[in-house]
Amino acid sequence: MKAKVLINKGNVLSEIDDRLYGSFIEHMGRAVYGGIFDPSHPMSDNYGFRNDVKALVKDLNVPLVRYPGGNFLSGYNWEDGIGPIDQRPRRLDLAWQTIETNEVGLHEFMRWANELDIEVDMGVNLGTRGIDAARNLVEYCNFPGGTYWSDLRKANGASEPFNIKTWCLGNEMDGSWQIGAKTAEEYGRLACETAKVMKLVDETIELVVCGTSVSTLPTFGSWEQTVLEHTYEHVDYLSLHMYYGNPENDIENYLAKSLDMDRFIKGVIAICDSVKARKKTEKTLNLAFDEWNIWYHTLETDEQIEKWQVARPVLEDIYNFEDALALGCLLITLLKNSDRVKIACLAQLVNVIAPIMTETGGEVWCQTIFYPFQQVSTHGRGKAMLTTIVSDQYDSKDFSDVPYLESIIVDDEERNELVVFAVNRSQNEEMHLDIDLQGYKIQSVSECSTLAGYELKETNKKGQEIVKPVANNQISITDIGINVVLPALSWNMIRLEKAE
Ligand code: AHR
Repeated sequence: MKAKVLINKGNVLSEIDDRLYGSFIEHMGRAVYGGIFDPSHPMSDNYGFRNDVKALVKDLNVPLVRYPGGNFLSGYNWEDGIGPIDQRPRRLDLAWQTIETNEVGLHEFMRWANELDIEVDMGVNLGTRGIDAARNLVEYCNFPGGTYWSDLRKANGASEPFNIKTWCLGNEMDGSWQIGAKTAEEYGRLACETAKVMKLVDETIELVVCGTSVSTLPTFGSWEQTVLEHTYEHVDYLSLHMYYGNPENDIENYLAKSLDMDRFIKGVIAICDSVKARKKTEKTLNLAFDEWNIWYHTLETDEQIEKWQVARPVLEDIYNFEDALALGCLLITLLKNSDRVKIACLAQLVNVIAPIMTETGGEVWCQTIFYPFQQVSTHGRGKAMLTTIVSDQYDSKDFSDVPYLESIIVDDEERNELVVFAVNRSQNEEMHLDIDLQGYKIQSVSECSTLAGYELKETNKKGQEIVKPVANNQISITDIGINVVLPALSWNMIRLEKAE
């Protein structure tokens, strides 16, 4: 099969916000306890955080991590996680039916994030709590000193403010499963008043207001509309959440699900812009896709896991080769919408629907989805180019006109590189791809790698990271740019050095 991808130097879609490659750590499952934190592990630092896990997080190049939830956030008292660790309360976490020991709290998490040079995207509980707890938390974290909460932070060991810039106004407040779920009116009013007060404490912060938790809810659309009527002037981003999967075992349809993500994003942009027009304001609202991933392998089995234990091991999806391809399509879709999606968080980072898996007390390894994410977060920096695709198409169960080629090109001026990300969705045919780079001259191919050739259900295991990218030599520089052969069912990254 032949296909073509074309860019023109003058046609830039957007500067990519690095926070597009964010992730998420929730106090749930073995994300914190037994994941990033495992004090009796031989690789742990003096504070109990695993150095081998830190090394992989570093390798993943995650610039921002959302914390501490998730559904957990809506029942959490942040004050439980400060002060002497041995005096912190053990609490029931009703969201995930576990016991929360509070051994890790604000200071411990901030230290971990700072060491890894990761910005924290902090949530405030708008389920069981509200304005007062939120304003106190901003004062505790960001006010320099001389007040009750800022002095308490100092007394607890942080003389300098944490200066947290990005904050979430609750989590999935439209979901019936959410502790303290609200109607759009109730949430819109609360989010508006909380936002005002948080910005009175620190006017430099940015706020993310909750959009729909899943696009299939009947309230999708009207929820956003109502919430934004109340909050538009006071917030900076609207959130989207969505998880995909292949429960029907239909690879053609599965790989087309990124088209649903694209439609979802475009729908939310339309709603934001309609509110903008009605309010006659200059302000354009951007999006935070602050939970996205593949989640379906454990949905049925998790119910059977014993409740009310510490670090109840839920959502430990083991990803396979086809999941890595699907994730690649989702990553490209985020990049294609990077003019409006400024923050995105792969949910989650360690053990819970995660690219990194650990054994409590044991080894750490990379899931299949680690690799496309790592390649895009490392090399997908700079400018996303308006990318034209010419490709044959197919129809699947839920989608029509699905291009076999999914692709985007990024111009990284700092590294003097053009980087092509591409998925060949065809099950049977390799793709002879012409890359037409108008206005550019290519000096050399720095890297051409492909993830291809595995059984669809092939997974990585402890000590056996079988599914990972390898070099692809079927590439050549042409008069117009590049010609490359993409194997059937493949994820690909091509890095090209530009001639000066
Ligand atoms: O990421 C797992 C859960 O998915 C989060 O806690 C919640 O916000 C979402 O429903």
